[in-house]
Amino acid sequence: MATTTLDTLVAFTKRRGFVYPTSEIYGGLANSYDYGPYGVQLLKNIKDLWWKKMIEQREDMVGLDSQIIQHPTTWVASGHVGSFSDPLVEDLKTHKRYRADHLIEKWVESQKSKVKSPEEVNFLNSVVVENMKLDDMAEFIKKNNIKSPDGNEITTPKAFNLLFETQLGTVSGEKSIAYLRGETAQGIFTNFKQITDSCRVKLPFGVGQVGKSFRNEITQGQFVFRTVEFEQAEIEYFFDPEKTDWKKLMEEWKASMWSFISTDLGIDSAKLRWRQHTDKERSHYSKDTYDLDYQFPFGWKELWGVAYRTDYDLTQHMKHSGKSLEYVDSATGRKFIPHVMEPAVGVNRMFLMVLADAYREEDLGEGKTRTVLKLKPNLAPVQIAIFPLQKDEALREKAREIYNSLKKYFRVEFDDAGNIGKMYRRQDEIGTPYCVTIDYKSGDSGMVTIRDRDTMKQDTVQVAELKHYFDTKFTI
Ligand code: GAP
Repeated sequence: MATTTLDTLVAFTKRRGFVYPTSEIYGGLANSYDYGPYGVQLLKNIKDLWWKKMIEQREDMVGLDSQIIQHPTTWVASGHVGSFSDPLVEDLKTHKRYRADHLIEKWVESQKSKVKSPEEVNFLNSVVVENMKLDDMAEFIKKNNIKSPDGNEITTPKAFNLLFETQLGTVSGEKSIAYLRGETAQGIFTNFKQITDSCRVKLPFGVGQVGKSFRNEITQGQFVFRTVEFEQAEIEYFFDPEKTDWKKLMEEWKASMWSFISTDLGIDSAKLRWRQHTDKERSHYSKDTYDLDYQFPFGWKELWGVAYRTDYDLTQHMKHSGKSLEYVDSATGRKFIPHVMEPAVGVNRMFLMVLADAYREEDLGEGKTRTVLKLKPNLAPVQIAIFPLQKDEALREKAREIYNSLKKYFRVEFDDAGNIGKMYRRQDEIGTPYCVTIDYKSGDSGMVTIRDRDTMKQDTVQVAELKHYFDTKFTI
């Protein structure tokens, strides 16, 4: 099967009401996208499934919804104010900014097709951008005379903080600086004590949260993969390091993450892989990190990370707040700071992966083709479409009756706008797994026809049996 290009997905999602460029009437806004009627439903279905599997269906998990704007000391304690940065260079002529690591990666790729000698091939294969510090990048850029994409000289790389600064209302005429959160995780750490004090939780247990995070991303052209405003679904899983083996725990979380992506979201496992972070690449808080990568249309990229954050965050918040965030083992009375395993995923990246994986342009023979989104039935924005087959008032009324009875249980769309072929094609494109048609025969027989999106085969079912029929198709 040919790989779908990013351009195809961008055009398709706009045309079919999944994703629009933000503020398009004003020329758009870099790295920002809005979700249209079908997109917002797909996004919600992914989040709901994550919440169900990771929070509701686990005895050892609870949920949380903390604020986007928190006390600014949170971000000093977490280390984000000091070291949450990307290496940026500036084009000396156009003054456009670029990620230095991305320019180096692109340069290495471009050289691979040009080199001849085995020494040059070895040299290019040995470049690991993730291992480079700012000085290493500066030296590499200078030595290899790397230019901006417009062919101009660039500055040496500088650390650019990704946190979004904002201001809280005036206090005695002074404005105070605050930050839009750069990760949802910190709200979980700052609420740790309140959760253990107010809920019946015992180690090991996790706290999960879904919500917006903000980063001053400057790299363009990766669609919803990398945006300034995005949603994360994060878990902080607290445990006693004397009782729980962190390596075993990490393997358990890796298995849960893999299963959620391949089984619950139905993603092709051949496009998934694990990648361990190198020592230099790992975040300041982590002792070990793995990324679950997906093969996006622009290459293998991080979808979901799992990091062993040790007791770094709770210790930092204890230091900066002066409050104890220790846990007391009720059996022994031992006081200690719990350690943390963190599986953290971007909801928008899951959305892009689900679309890229489901998108097909199928050859139906005899010069006919169809575009179809082969989404897992539960994820589809519309689960059932209902069509009266002929333009007839009685049929339309019967179809409406069926629509009204099913919409209480499923996401249903009614359509009587075009010919049947066009209506099927439209539903295939938005990934609707089942279409129900009502025709003249339905009145006498009480039977309707159900057409399956993937096989295009048809089934006839009694109207009274429809609810039961679909219940069996949309089990989680
Ligand atoms: N609390 C840990 C943390 O935030 P991260 O690897 O920086 O770790 C977690 O982010 C996940 O959030 C990533 O695996 C990715 O899926 C998503 N993510 C990060 N930056 C993003 C961005 N600019 N746009 C969309 N998703 C992003």
